[in-house]
Amino acid sequence: MKISSLRLQLLAWVVLPLAALVTVNLWTSQRNALATADLVTDRMLVGSARAIAERVAMADGVLDATIPPAAIEMFDTGDRDSVYYRVETANGRLLTGYPDLPQAPQSGSIEASYRDHRLRLATLSHAVIGAGTDSPIRVTVGVTLAGHDAMVQRLWFSAFAQQLALVAIAGLFVLLGLRRGLAPLMRLRDAVRSPDRSDLDPVEVPGAQSEIRPLIDALNAYMERVRAQMAAQRRFIANAAHQLRTPLALMSTQASYALRESAADRREEALVALQAGSGRLARLAEQLLTLSRAEPGSRRPRVDRIDLTEAARQVLETHAPKAVERDIDLGLEEAGPVPVIGDGTMLREMIVNLVDNALRYTPAGGTVTVKLAAIDRDGVLTVTDTGPGIPAEEREQVFERFYRIAGAAEEGSGLGLAIVREVVENAGGSVALGEAAGSGLRVEVRLPLAAPKDRPTGAVRSPAR
Ligand SMILES: Nc1ncnc2c1ncn2[C@@H]1O[C@H](COP(=O)(O)OP(=O)(O)OP(=O)(O)O)[C@@H](O)[C@H]1O
Ligand SMILES: [Mg+2]
Repeated sequence: MKISSLRLQLLAWVVLPLAALVTVNLWTSQRNALATADLVTDRMLVGSARAIAERVAMADGVLDATIPPAAIEMFDTGDRDSVYYRVETANGRLLTGYPDLPQAPQSGSIEASYRDHRLRLATLSHAVIGAGTDSPIRVTVGVTLAGHDAMVQRLWFSAFAQQLALVAIAGLFVLLGLRRGLAPLMRLRDAVRSPDRSDLDPVEVPGAQSEIRPLIDALNAYMERVRAQMAAQRRFIANAAHQLRTPLALMSTQASYALRESAADRREEALVALQAGSGRLARLAEQLLTLSRAEPGSRRPRVDRIDLTEAARQVLETHAPKAVERDIDLGLEEAGPVPVIGDGTMLREMIVNLVDNALRYTPAGGTVTVKLAAIDRDGVLTVTDTGPGIPAEEREQVFERFYRIAGAAEEGSGLGLAIVREVVENAGGSVALGEAAGSGLRVEVRLPLAAPKDRPTGAVRSPAR
């Protein structure tokens, strides 16, 4: 059985062993009570036998045994016990009493059955002066066990009552102690539940014990983290909304302008601008979506075995027309497959963003080179261009969401490098910005190489496309 209440658990741990101890104790005290009652009864039997024996004397040359009433009355303890006796000579001649009464061993006592009663019996030898060969006489006294048993009961019951009281008091103290001890935990629960607590404030539990403190501290630290994350989310949403609002307002103006304008060429101009605006907006939405997908926990983690070289080749193929259009020499340097483990879609998205940046920010006539290599245990992807590069002091900031270098002529949302970093770090790698020979930017992405023939373990395989 599983006890889910801490209080019951502790109570069980204290009271059950205690009850076991008490059981053992009751058994021993019952044995003690029995031994005591035996001893007392035996003393009385011997005392009674001695009183009888001392009255036996020679009268007119014959042995005379008269039973003194006190010898019988001493057993009259109100338990209606019957007393049996026998006095006989050394050679077994009955002087008085019950001839068939069992005999106890010399200077000892026995329990025996007699006339449907259980008896306790004691036998005493006693020398009688002048009795000749009849001496010593033997006196046997037996008594039924009602008084004996009543004594056992009385002795034992008092021990029983004492110990019961002890367990009850111990249980009571355990309950009281638990109530006191658990009070801070209850207060913690109430503090967390309390409806008038403003959200995610640290909880305070005055008087909490040192065992509960770490729990409270951990809870507060956790809430602090959640609070920071929520604040970041809020900032992100506000930024995104802001980024969407500006182009939307612009497009709305362009649309009104196009509607009002009657000259066909002006109208077309406005519509072209409108189209360009909606294109940028679509790209912003695209980037936002990619970033949200790149965030850890936003979708099931995929661990595909991906050849970076192949992925880069695909990206370059799709970007070739753009390079031609901008008169940029887009090239790939590779020396065979570079296998890494990660989410294939996101890794391709990462390369897309790097190539897109290089093509966008490099002036016409420049060169963009994507290079792949396996160095030590890393797959290394470098994208170099002959553009303006990024000043050293801004190389950290450009990874922030929505951050764009002031005065950039090109359109953009400022999410590309944030996506790159998110994807690379999720795949266990790192990304660094540097200077290319000349003036351009050099982006280096390092990802742990997949072990040769490393079957992706626990992989969620994407369905064949
Ligand atoms: N290859 C590069 N050469 C020069 N500057 C760059 C290069 N790549 C990025 N930058 C600068 O870093 C900034 C951030 O780049 P990022 O890719 O994050 O955003 P973006 O390109 O402006 O927008 P997005 O990629 O989301 O459309 C850019 O605004 C640009 O100024
Ligand atoms: Mg970009």
